[in-house]
Amino acid sequence: MPLPKAELHLHIEGTLEPELAFELAARNGVKLPYADTDALREAYRFENLQSFLNLYYELMAVLRTERDFEDLANAYLARAAAQGVRHAEIFFDPQAHIARGVAVGTVVEGLARALDRSEENHGVSTHLILCFLRDESAESALATLDAAKPYLDRIIGVGLDSAEVGHPPVKFREVYESAAALGLRRVAHAGEEGPPEYITEALDILGVERIDHGLRCMESPELVARLARDRVPLTLCPLSNVRLRTVDTLADHPLPAMLDAGLLCTVNSDDPAYFGGYADDNFKAVRETLALTEEQLRELARNSFEASFLEDDEERRAR
Ligand code: HPA
Ligand code: ZN
Repeated sequence: MPLPKAELHLHIEGTLEPELAFELAARNGVKLPYADTDALREAYRFENLQSFLNLYYELMAVLRTERDFEDLANAYLARAAAQGVRHAEIFFDPQAHIARGVAVGTVVEGLARALDRSEENHGVSTHLILCFLRDESAESALATLDAAKPYLDRIIGVGLDSAEVGHPPVKFREVYESAAALGLRRVAHAGEEGPPEYITEALDILGVERIDHGLRCMESPELVARLARDRVPLTLCPLSNVRLRTVDTLADHPLPAMLDAGLLCTVNSDDPAYFGGYADDNFKAVRETLALTEEQLRELARNSFEASFLEDDEERRAR
C-alpha cells in the first residue's frame, strides 16, 4: 500500500497522457502533429525546462471545453488516488488557455466539476492554485487575476511557473500584493533553473509560504539555514529534475542532503504524464535510488500534510 500523502506540486495540464490527448483531439477536431501515441511519446526527450514547455503548451490545443478539463482532472484524480494521494493542491495555467481563446471560467468550471466529486469518487480532497506565467508580462498577470475574480471562491492561492531564468519574482510584486489583499495564499516556483536569489526574492518580495522546487537553495548555506529555521516547505519533484536535466541522474539528487540539512522537503510529481511517474512513483524512485530509510519516507509523507493548505482538522482526516 502506498503511503498516504498530499500532492502539492502538480500542474493539471501536465497530467495529459498521450491517449487522452488523442481522444480530445478527435473530439474537438484538432490535428496533432504526431502520427500516434508512440510518436508523441518519442517527443518526450527534454534538454531543459524550455524544451519541455514547448511541447506542454503545444498539446494544450486539445483542451477546449469544460468537459475536456473535467475529463483531464478526473483521469488525474483516479491515478493519484491509486498512488496514495489523499489531498491534492492543483496548479493550472489560465494564460495558456486564454491565449487560445478558452476563457478562465471554462477552465475553472470544468476542473470544478471533477473536483466537486473528488472526495466522493476518489477519496481525494483538493484545492486549486492559479499560476501566472512568468515569461508573460506583469500586466498580463494582473489582467488574469482580474478575469479570475468571479471564480475566487474556487481558488485557494496563486503560483508562478513557466520559464524561470530572466524572469525574477520581483517582476510580479504588484500582482502578488493584489492576491494577498484578496485573501489568496501564495507560492512560487523558484530555484529550479533560476539562482538561489530568486528563492530569497520570492520569500521577501512576493511573501510566498512555500517554494516550488527550490533545489538550487543548496548553493547558498545562508539560505538553507534560513529555510530550515523558518520551516519553509519545498515541493521537490525528483523525476521532473531528471527529465529536465536539473540533475544529471537521480543518484545525484540532493534530497538526502536536503533532509540532513533539516529542510522541510516534500516529494511531488510536477507533470507526471511527461516525466515518467505520479506521486508514489516519485516516492519509489527516491526510496530505491537514494536509499532513503522508511522513517525518511514517512517524514516526507508527514511533511506533505504539514506543508499543505489544509486546516488542522481537515489534515487529521486526510492523513
Ligand atoms: N517548471 C516551470 N513551469 C512549469 C513546470 C515546471 O516544472 N511545469 C509546468 N510548468
Ligand atoms: Zn512545476
